[in-house]
Amino acid sequence: NRVVLAFSGGLDTSVILKWLQQTYDCEVVTFTADLGQGEELEPARQKALLMGVKPEHIFIDDLRDEFVRDYVFPMMRANAVYEGQYLLGTSIARPLIAKRQIEIARQVGADTVSHGATGKGNDQVRFELGYYALNPDIKVIAPWREWDLTSRTRLIEFAEQHQIPIPRDKRGEAPFSTDANLLHTSSEGKVLEDPWEEVPDYVYSRTVNPEDAPDTPEYITIDFERGDPVAVNGEHLGPADLLAKLNDFGRTHGIGRLDLVENRFVGMKSRGMYETPGGTILHLAHRGIEQLTLDRGAAHIKDQLMPRYAELIYNGFWFSPEREMLQAAIDSSQRSVTGTVRLKLYKGAAHIVGRKADVKHNLYSADIVTFEDDQGAYDQRDAEGFIKLNALRLRLLGRRDR
Ligand code: ARG
Ligand code: SIN
Repeated sequence: NRVVLAFSGGLDTSVILKWLQQTYDCEVVTFTADLGQGEELEPARQKALLMGVKPEHIFIDDLRDEFVRDYVFPMMRANAVYEGQYLLGTSIARPLIAKRQIEIARQVGADTVSHGATGKGNDQVRFELGYYALNPDIKVIAPWREWDLTSRTRLIEFAEQHQIPIPRDKRGEAPFSTDANLLHTSSEGKVLEDPWEEVPDYVYSRTVNPEDAPDTPEYITIDFERGDPVAVNGEHLGPADLLAKLNDFGRTHGIGRLDLVENRFVGMKSRGMYETPGGTILHLAHRGIEQLTLDRGAAHIKDQLMPRYAELIYNGFWFSPEREMLQAAIDSSQRSVTGTVRLKLYKGAAHIVGRKADVKHNLYSADIVTFEDDQGAYDQRDAEGFIKLNALRLRLLGRRDR
């Protein structure tokens, strides 16, 4: 029997590959997704080959454009943030990995899939809800929930016993628990487990320290069409290239660092550090273009739905009727969200400094809002009745309770 393993080539999933072969006496098929994590993926192939995986059972797929176009952008249309701050960089990648794993399982005739998430976290839920939604009969092996390697320390011992190379960070230590893709890098564990302890500098990998960022601000523009970004500084780019470009700007100016204690779906709190350079810029810019082009009624409903939508993604319900229902509403709101936002990047922050949209999309009217003579565009006397009727019940209350 065959098992399709989501294999990053890193320490945990290398140990899992060996452990699956030993424990289940099965043929392991590896799937490594290129989601723009910025690592070479050929070493994953070499590792899999060394551990006896057949060449035709090693899948390495470039999913960068699909990831950004079909997952990141739809989520950005909602302005999704979890618990007020987290831009969901890991959460949004899991459904795509699950989907591709299920496809590969079908292709190679495997009835089982496996992943490297622990039994304590969110990722196990996200992977497995994805699996079951897309193949109700799939079997799942989650080694972290089964084996006796009950800590990272024991995992490293197992790796040493089986000649599995242990990656070292800049300081020669075994790494944090990390996850990376085009949208973000997250780190959890080790010194970060003390939420009072400031995140040490060496943990950051894709943004410069804002204190060391350039002393002169940089201006950029982002063009949107129907809620999605299509160009940076006037240059049209595909989804993955566009996000990569924004990541470059974000890195240079130290944008998108986040130190957060969050509530995991399983009920515990965890402390993590996130770097979401391009995503932070994009999130802000998208709000900037909605300011001009989205009607108040639609915008406010959208803002009410957003926390529910973000929670669905965080909790792993991407492939669910309720997420799809919210997505349809969000997408329909984006028909007019077309135009250009100008941003200033400076020492750890992005600021909206300008936005424009053509007459077909724009709702902002200087003729109406002006403090100067509006030439009769708006009759200030209309406001009197508007206020009087809104005040009616307040006055009745006031009279009664005086
Ligand atoms: N806490 C984040 C989430 O639930 C990231 C989890 C994965 N990160 C990691 N370091 N393993 O989305
Ligand atoms: C893990 O438990 O594997 C990482 C953290 C999480 O999924 O929340």
